[in-house]
Amino acid sequence: MKSDSASEVKVPWVKGLEKGPKGELSFAGRPLEATLKAASAAVPAYVLSLAVVQSRAAAYRKVLAEHLEQPLYFHFAMKSNNHPALLQMLAGEGYGVDVVSGGEMQWALDHGFKSADVVFSGVAKSKNEIQKALEAGVGQLNVESLPELVRILEVAKSLKKTARLAIRFNPEVKAETHPYIATGFRENKFGVDALDLPEMADVILQNPEFLDFQGLSLHIGSQLLDFAALGDAIQKTLAVEQQLKNRGLKIKSLDVGGGVGIAYKGSEDEDSQVLLKYARTLASALKGYPGELHFEPGRFWVARAGALVTRIEYVKRTPYKNFLILNAGMNALLRPMLYQAYHRIELVPAREGASAVYDVVGPVCESSDTLGTLREFIDPREGDLAIIGEAGAYGAVLASNYNLLGAVPEVLWDDL
Ligand SMILES: Cc1ncc(COP(=O)(O)O)c(C=O)c1O
Repeated sequence: MKSDSASEVKVPWVKGLEKGPKGELSFAGRPLEATLKAASAAVPAYVLSLAVVQSRAAAYRKVLAEHLEQPLYFHFAMKSNNHPALLQMLAGEGYGVDVVSGGEMQWALDHGFKSADVVFSGVAKSKNEIQKALEAGVGQLNVESLPELVRILEVAKSLKKTARLAIRFNPEVKAETHPYIATGFRENKFGVDALDLPEMADVILQNPEFLDFQGLSLHIGSQLLDFAALGDAIQKTLAVEQQLKNRGLKIKSLDVGGGVGIAYKGSEDEDSQVLLKYARTLASALKGYPGELHFEPGRFWVARAGALVTRIEYVKRTPYKNFLILNAGMNALLRPMLYQAYHRIELVPAREGASAVYDVVGPVCESSDTLGTLREFIDPREGDLAIIGEAGAYGAVLASNYNLLGAVPEVLWDDL
């Protein structure tokens, strides 16, 4: 029996935000405060370390390759972070990409990805997006409904092209995650219900010239730390795959989506245990699977590669509550407000003394603009830096110019 020790991840990755014994912070192995000072970095700003992403992607690939016997293909979920340099780096390393709109598809092609390595997901593909995807020759359209399949067929016929596609199956499982990022339950808008599959299979079988079926895809949710539901989902998917084979469809691959979470509240070492748990779940669910396996990881690769650097504008004390008011909030990082996500908040400089409890809020004129509640800090002061950790995934991509607060740049840490 293998133990779940972190040391089993044999590719040591570059760590993100770390706190030393005296409270001093480092990011991607370099001192945070001194580096920001030397670079006269703007605040607020995201910092993004490509070294962290590169090493985590390598570890992810290696751990899965050690556990799985099938050929493996990785398509980075660009929705989590679309920084041009990040995409160029991943494309250069030979990874593919998963996109969810025509805009993301074009962005991927503009930043080095080969069209054959693009997986196009998403429930609302327009005719125009499908046309562009077929003209570009994307590797795989993940089809989310029968009407979408019919639309793809029409466009393929009109262009005299063949669409390579997978059907995203909704396995009707409830992933252990926040309801807003669970996608594999039957009441979610994502994926195709088992009842629709025979008809879709027939459409594909009747149009081999225009529809080139690769297999099924699934993605049951994001920020998964427990993979029991994923194991169930794969079992259900394999049963459905067999039914499709019996109907005459050939299956080349299975796309198992993304979803591997990180320990936002724990230590970075816990991430390696999560990754190992994921790999073991897949190894046991897919033992002997004869096709290729495709992956669409997002968060696990990039979350720890980013941090949001903000400044305390005011320390406001009321008889009821203390607030740290930062110069960036939901305009820069929406996750806490969108799905009650937890982000670590660290202050620079670290001070000594008694601590008190604060809510950490942003400048936006909304009461929901709260980055963290009931956090303990020692003697926070106006002008101190407040670093929001683990903000590389679904951070900068969700930023807005609400209240016309201005764009928050995402700067490359590796260049500072
Ligand atoms: C279809 C699809 N694939 C991949 C991902 C990436 O997920 P994660 O960032 O959790 O790995 C998502 C995000 O939810 C998604 O919707």
